[in-house]
Amino acid sequence: MKIDGTAYRSVWVDASDGFSVRIFDQTKLPWALDILRLTDVAQAAHAIRTMQTRGAPLIGAVAAYGMCLALRADASGEALERDAAMLAATRPTAVNLRWAVDRMLTRLRNTAQADRVAAAYDEAGKIADEDAAQCEAIGRHGLPLIEAIAARKPGKPVNVLTHCNAGWLATVDWGTALAPIYMAYERGIDIKVWVDETRPRNQGAALTAWELNSHGVAHTIVADNAGGHLMQHGEVDLVIVGADRVTRDGDAANKIGTYLKALAAKDNGVPFWVALPSTTIDWTIRDGVADIPIEERAATEVTHLTGRTEDGTLATIQVTSPGSPAGNPAFDVTPARLVTGLITERGRCDASEAGLLSLFPEFAR
Ligand code: MRU
Repeated sequence: MKIDGTAYRSVWVDASDGFSVRIFDQTKLPWALDILRLTDVAQAAHAIRTMQTRGAPLIGAVAAYGMCLALRADASGEALERDAAMLAATRPTAVNLRWAVDRMLTRLRNTAQADRVAAAYDEAGKIADEDAAQCEAIGRHGLPLIEAIAARKPGKPVNVLTHCNAGWLATVDWGTALAPIYMAYERGIDIKVWVDETRPRNQGAALTAWELNSHGVAHTIVADNAGGHLMQHGEVDLVIVGADRVTRDGDAANKIGTYLKALAAKDNGVPFWVALPSTTIDWTIRDGVADIPIEERAATEVTHLTGRTEDGTLATIQVTSPGSPAGNPAFDVTPARLVTGLITERGRCDASEAGLLSLFPEFAR
């Protein structure tokens, strides 16, 4: 996607030295567009853990590049296993991270030590390229949903609600939930996006809003609790969210609060679609509520907020009663029964094993 006319991806290898890894520091957005330079595996792990880089597909790609940096320091088999395990443990819920690390291991275990660094950069590059292509395809397969609504209400905008940030900042390019929105916008469809602020870390208010604003897509940030009200009043035509892990039976883990939006959508007859690349599917589990590990993050993400003061400086303030404990489950699971359908790089399907296997028959067993 473009920022001020220049095309960027969310992760890339620095062409000037040929090895360091560049990412945007997403903890600084929307206030500053800082590009970080990662030169060792510890920095890559830190960036994922602290959410300088985030979003299920993107942390997979950054972890893959993190393995490249690790191998530059030590390409032995022992170090390979150790650093892969360390990277895979940086965040627990998004399965893309484990998928990417496993894919790197499969290639590198079968590569002579002397050739491992070059092979790692080659494989990480393929992971990044494939993610960008998959997200572009998700956009194409999601677009007809928006076109159909636009055709039903000529002269009026299509109102889409989204939660968290599942845009290009969360992937290598395009995004998942936002990819169909960008494509609809490019085709001249009048589209308006309700952006859930997405407390506690405000990925909607800070990142999705910044992305949409940079691209010129009409949007309005709303408090997380507003979605149900908007749906009751016919202000939402369609919900599209991303996912961090989708089970074989179609349950979808995504940013905390997604489940409540799905409940409200069901009650109001609003279609609720989950957009994901196949790298987000965990074929080994069925029951998302029971089996998807939910990351518990620091209580300070709930008790404190960072923002810009009127004089332009950044400040962190406490917004909760001092001394009260806070809990911070970072994801929840939307059961498949609440999901209208899944948008993948191979097309749309029901949120069910049969639906997923109709697109990915190679996972039948
Ligand atoms: O904790 P985050 O910001 O990494 O969570 C991100 C999300 O929940 C996204 O919606 C999900 O990863 C889909 S990204 C295309």
